[in-house]
Amino acid sequence: MSVPIQLVIDGKQAAFEVGYAERLVDTLREKAGLLGVKRDCGRGECGACSVFLDGRLVSACLVPSIQADGSEIWTAEGLSREGRLADLQAAFSELDAVSCGHCTPGMLMAGEALLRQYRRPTTEQIRHGLAGNRCRCAGYDRYVAAIRKVARRRAARRTAEP
Ligand code: FES
Ligand code: FES
Repeated sequence: MSVPIQLVIDGKQAAFEVGYAERLVDTLREKAGLLGVKRDCGRGECGACSVFLDGRLVSACLVPSIQADGSEIWTAEGLSREGRLADLQAAFSELDAVSCGHCTPGMLMAGEALLRQYRRPTTEQIRHGLAGNRCRCAGYDRYVAAIRKVARRRAARRTAEP
């Protein structure tokens, strides 16, 4: 038994038939083809499946797809614009924050959420904000440094704006 749902994913309308027990992570990966949304623990413990759901950072493995009907979803793949890396993606790359890359989409979403919450997050705030995202390659320090770098750049841009 399946039911129809409608989503806006990374700015594009999409419609799916989903099962009652289906989770958003599986709809995004298997039906929308967004393999950047990783599935790891499946229990909300690793942050690999982090996405924005109507502006809130959530673990997509905990969200029933039916419950997301009518929502706007943003994934790490939607952060870049017109083929250009988003500033946070660029900083991850500049600082070699990515090892195997498995946790990276989730780190991007958690990092972006932090940067929206705090204009100039402290190292402690960043570490706290990333606490729900597990990196098996232990690349935390570089992720933290990249987020701080982007916070500085965004602050400089804001100051320079007329
Ligand atoms: S797969 Fe969703 S939090 Fe781990
Ligand atoms: S870069 Fe490999 S799990 Fe984080």
